[in-house]
Amino acid sequence: MSEKRSNPKQLKNLSQKNALHFSNQDSTRQPKVLMKTFGCQMNKLDTALVQASLKDAGYGVADDESNADVVLINTCSVREHAERKVFSHLGNLKHIKQSRPELIVGVLGCMAQRLGGELLEGGVVDIVCGPGQIPQIPELVKQALVEKRKSLAVISEIRKESAENPELEELESVFDSDDKRIPGQAFVRAMRGCNNFCSYCIVPYVRGPEVSRPQEAVIEQIKRLAGEGVRQVTLLGQAVNLYEYKNGGKTYCLADLLEMANEVDGIEWIRFVTSYPKEEYFDEICNAMAELEKVCGYFHMPAQSGSDRILKAMNRHYTAEQYLDLISRAKEKVGGIAVSGDIIVGFPGETDADFEATVELVKKARYKNAFIFKYSPRPGTKAENGMEDSVPDEVKKKRNIELLAVQEKISNELSAEFLGKEVKVLVEGLSKKPHLNKAENQNNPQLIGRTSTDWIVVFNGPQSLAGEFANVTISKTSPLTLFGQLS
Ligand code: 5AD
Ligand code: SF4
Repeated sequence: MSEKRSNPKQLKNLSQKNALHFSNQDSTRQPKVLMKTFGCQMNKLDTALVQASLKDAGYGVADDESNADVVLINTCSVREHAERKVFSHLGNLKHIKQSRPELIVGVLGCMAQRLGGELLEGGVVDIVCGPGQIPQIPELVKQALVEKRKSLAVISEIRKESAENPELEELESVFDSDDKRIPGQAFVRAMRGCNNFCSYCIVPYVRGPEVSRPQEAVIEQIKRLAGEGVRQVTLLGQAVNLYEYKNGGKTYCLADLLEMANEVDGIEWIRFVTSYPKEEYFDEICNAMAELEKVCGYFHMPAQSGSDRILKAMNRHYTAEQYLDLISRAKEKVGGIAVSGDIIVGFPGETDADFEATVELVKKARYKNAFIFKYSPRPGTKAENGMEDSVPDEVKKKRNIELLAVQEKISNELSAEFLGKEVKVLVEGLSKKPHLNKAENQNNPQLIGRTSTDWIVVFNGPQSLAGEFANVTISKTSPLTLFGQLS
């Protein structure tokens, strides 16, 4: 975990209350925690909060299970596949626990909220902690280690009051980072939860209702991060474009947040994810993108389907035409904007004609990239309760492959437009293909960066560029990646 992290009073009080009585220097007695994260950016952010609070309470970081005293898994419930991965991980931990019964295992996040006490039954898990109870982690870990107590910290009904947990806000407002932070970049939560109740989605059930953070807390956090050298912030929310906070007779929306963040010295790029297709605030946000020089021209705005019938069954409150209209308005207003989307194939009752409508939508939307998922029934959601998972898996697979091919062609055409052009990128660090960075490349390794419109750019250069901006001239393109040389 980062050593530079600022350490405001509230977090100190919160974690010191649960601090273990050993010194940070005494590494032989310092219990070590390993954290694994599944799922979205929200979860990565929660993991960073947990790591920060545990570090303040005096815990060390384990490299892997073999030297960990505590393993905490931050989980995702959005598709069954994500849950299966966690169960298989718990299976491995069960094995390890047979020889090391003192190992403490915790399940945090969405699966903890969904499955609650059931998780304690298998004899592997000691701590179950929902996303809203994350500030309690240092206390729960201490109880498990010192008092050998198992804990269940989830709430049976996530109401707005519990979602507005002030301790969590305080933790969030000091969120900084872990070792894996991309240099120069940080994520800042604008809001928690979701009110949309799309009929397939488990998020509103496990993460609770929408709660926007006070605009001052968000901006103060951005200022603090800028002071620590952060150049790019990404504002997070399940439907971040619907951010709304009433304060002193004014209602702040995302465009206001963007405007205030644009004033913060040191911050150079501002992004936000994810957007829900809706008229409300849309033009204001596009105007902010067009007019504020730091706001990146990039939208992640899932359509989910191109069939109005299916969109209705999904409880998405727009038609394909309205969705495409939002996209074309954004493209008109914001020069060079890139849009990405999510699509679910094989939703209950999806016919060939419905799927064709989705193919048409994808062709018209001309996404930079699209994440395509096969529908996965989630317990407790409207789709799972009232609709039969009628599309056979082979058909889901076939539609997935077909749509990927349609998208790949579009991504290829869009990326080819960059050939010969110079782009500005924020450098993230070494490319994740280590075989390319062996010996001969040590002085000029392969680096990875992103443009303001979220295109991934691969080029060779000194590792010291990580966290800096660089100009790269593009000489080769593929559907998802641009390749080039430092200009
Ligand atoms: N099945 C498949 N995909 C889903 N998503 C959400 N719930 C489900 C589900 N039950 C997808 C949506 C969403 C993304 C994060 O995950 O496309 O935008
Ligand atoms: Fe789930 Fe819909 Fe909320 Fe996104 S907007 S998190 S898909 S309920």
